[in-house]
Amino acid sequence: MQETRIIDASQTYESQGQGLPTGLELLGGKFKIDRQIGAGGFGITYLAMDTFLERAVVIKECFPESICMRFGNRVTVNAPAHDAQYRKIVEMFMREARSIAKMRHPNIVSVHQAFEENGTAYMVLDLFEGRDLLDVIEDDNDALSPDQVRDILVKVLDAIDLVHKNDLLHRDISPDNILLDKWGTPALIDFGAAREDASQKTSAVSTMLVVKDGYSPHEFYVAGGVQGPCSDLYALAATMYHLITGDAPPNSQTRVSAMAGGEPDPYEPIIGRFPQYETAFLQAIDQAMRVSPKERIQSAKDWLDLIEQETKKVKTVKIPENKTLTKTLSELIEETNKHVLSADAQKRVEAPVPRKEVTTGREYFQPEWVEEFNRETREAEEQKRREAERAAAEEAAWHAEQARLEQVARLAALAEQQAEQARQQVEDERISSKILEWVSRGK
Ligand SMILES: Nc1ncnc2c1ncn2[C@@H]1O[C@H](COP(=O)(O)OP(=O)(O)O)[C@@H](O)[C@H]1O
Ligand SMILES: [Mg+2]
Repeated sequence: MQETRIIDASQTYESQGQGLPTGLELLGGKFKIDRQIGAGGFGITYLAMDTFLERAVVIKECFPESICMRFGNRVTVNAPAHDAQYRKIVEMFMREARSIAKMRHPNIVSVHQAFEENGTAYMVLDLFEGRDLLDVIEDDNDALSPDQVRDILVKVLDAIDLVHKNDLLHRDISPDNILLDKWGTPALIDFGAAREDASQKTSAVSTMLVVKDGYSPHEFYVAGGVQGPCSDLYALAATMYHLITGDAPPNSQTRVSAMAGGEPDPYEPIIGRFPQYETAFLQAIDQAMRVSPKERIQSAKDWLDLIEQETKKVKTVKIPENKTLTKTLSELIEETNKHVLSADAQKRVEAPVPRKEVTTGREYFQPEWVEEFNRETREAEEQKRREAERAAAEEAAWHAEQARLEQVARLAALAEQQAEQARQQVEDERISSKILEWVSRGK
C-alpha cells in the first residue's frame, strides 16, 4: 500500500514504535488506549475506549514524526529549532478538529471531542466499522458491482462537496482513507489534520509537502504549487481508477516528466475499456485526472451533475398514473387521519395530563442528594485535574533534561544525514523547476 509521506529529506524521523502504550488513560481517565492502528506522517491513530459511555472510539494523536519525539508519554520537538513549527502544527490540528466537527455528513466520520494533553493534541472520532477500499480492491472475492462503485462515488462526492464548501481541502484522498461498512456505505476519514497550510509558502511548515504516489496531483509535489478543489478531485478520480481497473494510476510526477520531455502521457484513459460502466461515468474520471488543473472537473458539484445527467438520459422511465390506486390511497390516508385524530381527542379527554408534567424542566422534583452528588463529583474531578497537572509538570521537567542529553547525540547523527539529504534536495529541486517550467508554458 502507498504510504502518505512527507517530502522533506532533511527531517525524516522514525515514528514506528512511538505510540502510546495499551491501557494509558487520557483526559482524566475518560478514554483508555487499547492499541495503535495507524501511523502517518502527521499523526498516530489508536483504537480506544470511552470509559464513561463504554464504547469503542478512535483517537488520533497529533504527532508530526519528522520534527517530534516521545519521552515517556509526552511529545516534544526533536530539535529546539522546530519549536515554533511544532506549536503551529498542534494549533492547526485543533483548528482542523473543530472544522471537521462542524461538518455533519453521513459519509464523513464524526469528530466528537478534541483536547490537548501530553504536550500534543488529540481528536476523538466515532468508530466506523468496516474495511478500507484498499482491502476491498485487494480482495478478489469481494469485487464491487458497477452500481456499488457508482454509489460510493456519488456519496463521497457529496461529502467532498461539503468539505470544499467549508473551505477545507482533504489533501489525502486515497483507497485507504475511504472506509466501507457492510452495507456498502462509504465514509471519508483522515482529514490530514494539521496539513491545512502545509504547502503555503508563508507558513512555518512550508518545507512539508504531503504526497501519496499515484493519487496526489503534481501540484502537491511542488512547494508553492496551487492547490484547490480540483486537486482533491484528482485524488478521488485516481481512487476510482484503482477501484475499477485494479491498478493504481501512474505517479503524477512521472506523467509530467514524460509530457514535458515530449513523450506520451503514461496514464491510460479508462473510457472505452469497461463496457459495464456508462461512458460518461468513465469519461468524468479521465477528465478529473487531467494533468493540467485547468482541464480537470473543477468542483464536486460539477462532477455530480455529469453523473446525474447520464442517469437521467439512461434511466428516466415514465410511470403511468394509476387513478384508481391514487384515489384508494388518498381515501385510506384520509380515513386513517380521521381515526387517529379522533382517538387522540378521546385520549385527551380520558386521561388529562397532570399539571406538573407540562411545566418546564426546572419544576421537576429533584432530590437533594442529586445536587450533593453532582457537587462532590465536580470537586473530585477538580482535585484529580490538579494532581494530574502537578504530575505533568514534574514529568515535563524530567523530560526536558532527558531531551537535552539526547539532543546532543542526535545533532551529530543529523549532521551526517543532512549531507546526503542536501544532495537529494538538489535533485528534487531540479525536477520541481522542470515541472513549474512545463506548467508555466501553459500545459
Ligand atoms: N473513525 C475510524 N473508524 C475506524 N477505523 C478508523 C477510523 N479512523 C481511522 N481508522 C483506521 O486507522 C487507520 C489509520 O487512520 P488514518 O486516519 O487514516 O491515519 P493515517 O493514515 O495518517 O495513519 C485507517 O486506515 C483506518 O483503518
Ligand atoms: Mg490514512
